[in-house]
Amino acid sequence: FSHGTSLALPMAIAHRGLSAYAPENTLSAIRAAHEAGHQWVELDVQLLKDGTPVIWHDASVNRCSDGRGRLRNLDLAAARALDVGSWFSARFAGERMATLEEALALIDSLGMGLNLELKLSPGHDTRALVEKVVPMAVGALPVGRLILSSFDPQALRMSRERDGKVMIGLLYDAIPDDWEALAEDVKAVTVHADWRALTRVAASRVTATQRKLLCYTPNDAAAFSPRWAWGVSAVISDDPGIFSEQDLAQSP
Ligand code: G3P
Ligand code: MG
Repeated sequence: FSHGTSLALPMAIAHRGLSAYAPENTLSAIRAAHEAGHQWVELDVQLLKDGTPVIWHDASVNRCSDGRGRLRNLDLAAARALDVGSWFSARFAGERMATLEEALALIDSLGMGLNLELKLSPGHDTRALVEKVVPMAVGALPVGRLILSSFDPQALRMSRERDGKVMIGLLYDAIPDDWEALAEDVKAVTVHADWRALTRVAASRVTATQRKLLCYTPNDAAAFSPRWAWGVSAVISDDPGIFSEQDLAQSP
């Protein structure tokens, strides 16, 4: 097991960009993360009706835009017509939905790293997402600054078939007992788990394989802190600035 040697992960990654301070999954949220001194962001990617990959979390646009309906029913022109900033704050009025291409260009220009989550809602075409997204992401960022993750094991298997070198992370709520078979199949470098569902036993099984363990989405550093000693390498937080190197020093 030799993958991931070039992976330089910080202890805290900005979830959906710096989503505590800027509208999630936007270029502003990426810039805000950079300005706050964070080196990595996590972003979600999905396909529009016309096949354009865009940075978006939900299956619908209801929560994070001034429109309504399913993301999958929009072409790029319709998606771009939405205001995706005002729901968060008037300061971000006029923010436009980011394409994956734009997000990758910005991240690379800022020298940042990216955990790109392949987000598949029911009815989505896994193969189409992988075929569009993986070459674009791999072409834009160096291997040590990109982790592809997904809750969908098929998306991870297809990503590995598409690219032998890209770093892959398994994404779970609670880590299942049989996680290691998938990890070996896709040569996963990292395992990402919901911090509230993480057990000490599951954590030790991951770290025993030399894979890095990441936890989403703790936003309370004190409540999270005992888990550093379980071998957690990094947290994916809406407000990563609340975590300090002192916390990580508790890790063995
Ligand atoms: O990738 C970690 C985390 O983002 C997974 O959950 O729903 O925030 O995409 P969600
Ligand atoms: Mg996500």
